[in-house]
Amino acid sequence: MHPVLVASSDPAASAAVPVLFVTSAAWREVAGALGEAAVAFAEAQGFDATSGQSVALPDPQGRIVAILFGADAGTSRRPADPFHAGRLVQALPAGLYRLEAVPGDSRLATLAVALGSYRFSRYRDRPAKAVRFVVPDGVDGDAVSREADAVAFGRDLINTPAGDLGPADLENHARAFAARSRATIRVTIGDDLLRDNFPMIHAVGRASERPPRLVDITWGDPAHPKVTLVGKGVCFDTGGLDIKTAAGMLLMKKDMGGAAAALSAARMIVEARLPVRLRVLIPAVENAISGSAFRPGDVLRSRKGPTVEIGNTDAEGRLILADALAFADEEAPDLVIDFATLTGAARVALGPDLPPLYTDDDDLAADLLRIGAAVNDPVWRMPLWSPYDAMLDSRIADMNNVSGGAFAGSVTAALFLRRFVEKAKSWAHFDIFGWVPSSKPGRPEGGEPQAARLVAGLVEERYPPRT
Ligand code: BES
Ligand code: MN
Ligand code: ZN
Repeated sequence: MHPVLVASSDPAASAAVPVLFVTSAAWREVAGALGEAAVAFAEAQGFDATSGQSVALPDPQGRIVAILFGADAGTSRRPADPFHAGRLVQALPAGLYRLEAVPGDSRLATLAVALGSYRFSRYRDRPAKAVRFVVPDGVDGDAVSREADAVAFGRDLINTPAGDLGPADLENHARAFAARSRATIRVTIGDDLLRDNFPMIHAVGRASERPPRLVDITWGDPAHPKVTLVGKGVCFDTGGLDIKTAAGMLLMKKDMGGAAAALSAARMIVEARLPVRLRVLIPAVENAISGSAFRPGDVLRSRKGPTVEIGNTDAEGRLILADALAFADEEAPDLVIDFATLTGAARVALGPDLPPLYTDDDDLAADLLRIGAAVNDPVWRMPLWSPYDAMLDSRIADMNNVSGGAFAGSVTAALFLRRFVEKAKSWAHFDIFGWVPSSKPGRPEGGEPQAARLVAGLVEERYPPRT
């Protein structure tokens, strides 16, 4: 069980302090049942069940016997935050609590407190306040724990700076995951990428002293439906010779956020033992600058065959993904999903918390949007607008890696990727930000493997565990 969760069967659970969720609409009625002294005590401290408020109620000996928590009921126009309970992690003093009268989904409330208590502690001990929660009745505490642990795995990878997480380190984390999962792993490193025909992964990664590589993990029964996850693993993105500004480079340790999301989703799928043949492909590189760097104006031949003129070395993610997607596509999988911190334009369009989803499969899009809302891992569909394909034209090669203009940057990046997926029955691409810029309930500031829970949820719905 996750360290902040306590099974309801645990003997300690009976001593848990109830946290009573109160909406402002219900406050009068709840107050009537509480007794005059408790209500006077709460109201004297300004409690009126406004969303986010909390007040501890004492017994005559001064011991806390209950917490009143202003629940988020939403309005007819604004839905409630399903992770609102995540606020309790900060709001409550150390102790063991029980969530009561949770409006909405108590599984998401439980997940929110588990996700909200995450700390990145690699470089500094910040002893977490011991705020713990009994798993509510009807909620599968072990499943919630697995999900929270898989998210923490992804967050740790993103939060680890590039100095400690180069391509070889990312490989090692993938190896550890594969070993724990009894999955098969194959890694192609450095010049072997040329031998095995991954020219664009090699070109992007070759300037770094830390050689590029392609990690290929497979798990599950080969007879089961083939699901392949691909994650952009740029351990640091300087921009290459078309170098980024200082501000643009500052957060680029997170440019392997797609790889983190793919591994996080894979961990959820494996631990739930879903009946799929899962494959995870991670092109892991550092987009560095040295005499051997690929240049603006260079033309690369892709694994699939078409040539790509380099309009900008900072559009490196789509190059390494193109070779990885083409490789994934060769076995004609049932489903290919890629995750990538691909463009700044995605954040301009939708902000940091709502990743664009691209797919030509309307049923897949509908399922992903519905599940995203249900598990509170939301995405927003954007179009693979074919007329914009022409923006990727090159004068001397089959295509350019960037469009000439400054328009529709996330769309043209997705269109670039689409050219390399042909045989897969279905393909979806998430242009994620991979980062929470300022803490929100259940989402502490820092790395975030966006769309991982969503994708695990989709795979679980389509291929439910056989019991
Ligand atoms: N990793 C970046 C995209 C990025 C930047 C994601 C900031 C999240 C936050 C990617 O490799 C990149 O540099 N993209 C360029 C593409 C451009 C050169 C066409 C971008 O978005 O500016
Ligand atoms: Mn870049
Ligand atoms: Zn990048």
